[in-house]
Amino acid sequence: MLAFINGVNLGHESRGTHGPVLLLLHGFPLNRTMWEPQLHDLSTDFRVVTMDFRGFGESDAPKGPYTMELLAEDVRGLLNHLALEQVVLGGLSMGGYVALAFYRKYPERVRALLLADTRAGADLPEVRKTRYEMIELAQREGPGAVAERMLPRLLAPSTFQRHPELVERLRRIIEAATVRGITGALAGMAERPDSTDLLPKIACPTLIIVGENDIVTPPSEARAMADAIPLSRLCVIPEAGHLSNMEKPSIFNQSLRDWLYDVVGSPS
Ligand code: MLT
Repeated sequence: MLAFINGVNLGHESRGTHGPVLLLLHGFPLNRTMWEPQLHDLSTDFRVVTMDFRGFGESDAPKGPYTMELLAEDVRGLLNHLALEQVVLGGLSMGGYVALAFYRKYPERVRALLLADTRAGADLPEVRKTRYEMIELAQREGPGAVAERMLPRLLAPSTFQRHPELVERLRRIIEAATVRGITGALAGMAERPDSTDLLPKIACPTLIIVGENDIVTPPSEARAMADAIPLSRLCVIPEAGHLSNMEKPSIFNQSLRDWLYDVVGSPS
């Protein structure tokens, strides 16, 4: 479905009719279909909502940069559009950066927070440099070249060995991204502020999930966030890389479900 928010059409989807609402934000340069295993499994007990950031999936792709604050405003617009006062907000990687930007501005709309395979810090200078190199690559050679460059870093070695179908699925998702989406999000991520100062102020229950083989946002980052956020729980998923929700959906979903039961209760 499309909703017209902040001047752009944003793709979104809702599954499940009862229970607390879980809104999930995707990573870069993917789209909301990365959450299919969660939509499928968790919508029996919760209402699960996913959205495409501007530039990705079914959403329009206006000119960037897409700052994390701008993407957080799109999240707020969607919540208002769906008349959702408060949600459990979850984000993986770039989705986590946006979730933190959203929490900084609108903490009252977040009942609990899921931060998956993400980090609180800003980019180091060398990472920022690679983002601008990737912007040039995307403009010169298109999303296929971005997929080629990124894929080796996104999944655990065991996923490459045992799940070639997932590797291909991921490649297709990245190839479907638009150049404007890729460049807009890269520029926004490169300039995002450090959110480390926010962590001790996060007052809601927070689940932090990370793949043990995540080399993009490694377990050390997840541990640092768990140490700094007062009501946090940390879950490290064995044999998963950066896309832990797609690589190990059963463990990811079980951890998320158990935590949701604890912090927001099971559906009546
Ligand atoms: C993501 O998965 O969203 C990106 O890898 C995040 C990043 O590049 O920092």
